[in-house]
Amino acid sequence: MIKLTVDNTEIEAEPGANLLHTCLESGIYIPNLCHLKEMSPAPASCRLCFVEIEGMDPPVASCTIRIWGSMQIHTDTPAVRRLQKSALQLLLSVHDVDCKPCPANRKCALQDIAKFLKIGLKPKHLQKQLKETRVVEEHPCLDYYPNRCVLCGKCVYVCRQQHDLPMLAFAGRGFDTVVTAFGGAKKTRDACGLCLACSAICPVGALIPKAEAT
Ligand code: FES
Repeated sequence: MIKLTVDNTEIEAEPGANLLHTCLESGIYIPNLCHLKEMSPAPASCRLCFVEIEGMDPPVASCTIRIWGSMQIHTDTPAVRRLQKSALQLLLSVHDVDCKPCPANRKCALQDIAKFLKIGLKPKHLQKQLKETRVVEEHPCLDYYPNRCVLCGKCVYVCRQQHDLPMLAFAGRGFDTVVTAFGGAKKTRDACGLCLACSAICPVGALIPKAEAT
């Protein structure tokens, strides 16, 4: 085991362990949206999990770091917070912040991270860029809300773990990227109706079982 220091707290980890996961397991919170322990390599798409590592400049996404020695980590520096707040504001600029009717209200990762970083969910200066399609209802079991989706990829990953064939995938590029469902209605109705792991792991309210949709 290796001893490392995170914000003056000494913790232990196996060499090669994932830094973000180790911190979270040790009760040290670092904002994150796209991290799943099992996903390797880490997608590192949300850009929220920055930390500073002594001897390394600039801050790094902790989900991409393997523990290699007695590292000194800082999770709460001005540079870290600046990067995290920018990443969150970017997410909020493309997020339909209409929490009341959303089934994820009060259990939404974006709400939690905004509270942690002390950012309002509707900053006044933020220019909104919402996708035109509000809800995609073609799937037999799920409704997809592109303007709530943070594109973390957890749904696509767990779907692939559950089924032999991928039923969900990313489609489009850049701002137009969305999660889309493969397969004919019959096949997805049978497989997805019994599963819904994608909806359960969604950190916001982007994939909602039809029965719960608002
Ligand atoms: Fe590291 Fe998303 S958790 S970039």
